[in-house]
Amino acid sequence: MKNNLSNIKKAKNILDNQDCVAIPTETVYGLAANAYSNKGVKKIFKLKKRPQNNPLIVHYHSINDLTKDCEINSDFLKLFKKFSPGPITYVLNLKKTSKISNNVTNKKNTLAVRFPKHTLTRKLLKLLKYPLAAPSANISTKVSSVCYQDVKEDFGNKIKFILDGGRSKVGVESTIISLVNKPKILRLGGLKVLDIENCLNKKLSLKLNSKKIFSPGQMKLHYSPGIPIKLNVKKPNKNEAYLSLKKKKEPKDFYYYLSKKGDLNEAAKNLYTTLRKIKKDNFKSLAVEKIKNHGLGKTINDRLLRASKFDG
Ligand code: TXA
Ligand code: MG
Repeated sequence: MKNNLSNIKKAKNILDNQDCVAIPTETVYGLAANAYSNKGVKKIFKLKKRPQNNPLIVHYHSINDLTKDCEINSDFLKLFKKFSPGPITYVLNLKKTSKISNNVTNKKNTLAVRFPKHTLTRKLLKLLKYPLAAPSANISTKVSSVCYQDVKEDFGNKIKFILDGGRSKVGVESTIISLVNKPKILRLGGLKVLDIENCLNKKLSLKLNSKKIFSPGQMKLHYSPGIPIKLNVKKPNKNEAYLSLKKKKEPKDFYYYLSKKGDLNEAAKNLYTTLRKIKKDNFKSLAVEKIKNHGLGKTINDRLLRASKFDG
């Protein structure tokens, strides 16, 4: 515990100096900087090799902090009460008086905001005088990081500090919902769309490939382990890794599974680690068995589909 506090203070010092630190969240690790600082935010884009026009999510400790920057509405309050802190990101209208850096929003008048659940990061956010802009802590287009080692593997010593909070419990990014006009889902994620629909008591439209606003769907390749991926494969080719949801009866050294018993939440948690492992084990391609398309299975399939756009 004492160790945690000194690590949180170390992270705070670096952030106060307009530099970046990696932070643990329950979804995936984030690469964070002061969202009010152009200098800090620019570093994030540089480190991640992220296109400038792809806006960042801003992380807050409380609604009080958020209302300095964004307009809130009744749908937001309903969802916030039920799901935050947790794996959901809200897109809201930005207030004219907000101090959020233009580099965060790409000069748009909306902002994606989130309240992460991880205790260390909540403690850190509470100590800070500003919210944290943080995309996932991985090189752009690659697999997200779900532990200290993943971040280290991607960035080496280029990041001054990684706040180690163990393995991310959800393991896939937050679900993004736009509440600017009629609510719509912009990205599938760690919170099931059905749970959000039940809370708002309405069916939601999915806008995963919006052309109008820069949404995650516009990125052609994403979440890629860096090898070709084929989906819905019944029988893998020779020398391919084969990934299934559930453990197979007779293990083979090219078989990988996401959850021993086929539990979709556990599978989401293990997805990125397994993709990284397959690459590390030196397989040159991956075949994936059909994965159930409900609950978090939809998020897993979304990530695998985007990762399968790899062409070299
Ligand atoms: O779980 C998560 O959401 C993680 C953790 C670290 O919080 N963060 C994360 O950030 O996944 P990132 O940058 O990898 O993905 C955020 C996505 C981007 O693809 C971006 O296009 C979209 O959110 N986004 C950001 N601001 C937006 C806005 N104002 N309108 C629509 N989409 C937005
Ligand atoms: Mg990302």
